[in-house]
Amino acid sequence: MGDNSKVNKNNRFNESGLTPLFIESMIFLRGSMTIRIHPTAEVSPRAQIGDGTCIWHQAQVREEARIGENCIIGKGVYVDAGVVIGSNVKIQNHTSVYHGVSIEDGVFVGPHVCFTNDLLPRAVNPDGSLKSAADWQLVTTRVRRGASIGANATIRCGTTIGEWAMVGAGSVVTHDVPDYGLVWGNPARLHGFICPCGGRLASSEQEARFVRAICQQCTAVVDIPLEIWKQAI
Ligand SMILES: CC(C)(COP(=O)(O)OP(=O)(O)OC[C@H]1O[C@@H](n2cnc3c(N)ncnc32)[C@H](O)[C@@H]1OP(=O)(O)O)[C@@H](O)C(=O)NCCC(=O)NCCS
Ligand SMILES: [Zn+2]
Repeated sequence: MGDNSKVNKNNRFNESGLTPLFIESMIFLRGSMTIRIHPTAEVSPRAQIGDGTCIWHQAQVREEARIGENCIIGKGVYVDAGVVIGSNVKIQNHTSVYHGVSIEDGVFVGPHVCFTNDLLPRAVNPDGSLKSAADWQLVTTRVRRGASIGANATIRCGTTIGEWAMVGAGSVVTHDVPDYGLVWGNPARLHGFICPCGGRLASSEQEARFVRAICQQCTAVVDIPLEIWKQAI
């Protein structure tokens, strides 16, 4: 994203000085750019938003957050300071994406998903004084390209959710999820593998170091490392 992708709350009007354009209560920006921010959303002047992105009611996007192109940021979503979100990402209503989380292109995050960034949280120090920003250790989380996270899941910090992986609704993710991995439950366990189309992957042949898996829905072929394949329960 270049400078022309920058947008802020006080800058919702066409910068050319022409009459602001209101369409269906959303606001379109900068002529050729079509970033839409609902009037009730709060977007920091120091956040960067890509072309085609839509930010819905009461969402908050903090300073230094970067959101790519063609994203949908749902109602009441919180995007913390410095969070990086790729392009073509959908984040559903009331999800919180905290500092230290990065989300790559094409990721789906369901409603009410909660990320975390402090593994051992405390409000106060042992002496009872309130912890300051310097009194805790940030633990990061990465959601890789094409992955999906089901409604109401909680993601423990320090984990990576692999490419095209899928996390079931209500899961508590405590370990890394492999590429194409399908996990659910509390704690989330690896139950199988899933194609980018959403179909289940089934083993067709086994090589020395990987399993060649075929999608039961679209017949795409995906190679999964053997030691990862064996981890599924
Ligand atoms: C994880 C998921 C993809 C699995 O779908 P599936 O492969 O069709 O799974 P099934 O329905 O065949 O379920 C298989 C078993 O796992 C259980 N199960 C499925 N999803 C589960 C979940 N999220 N948490 C706990 N158990 C789950 C089922 O109860 C079933 O167990 P049973 O055989 O003892 O009855 C799906 O259940 C899910 O959670 N999708 C996400 C939905 C969502 O949040 N969407 C967000 C946008 S609205
Ligand atoms: Zn498929």
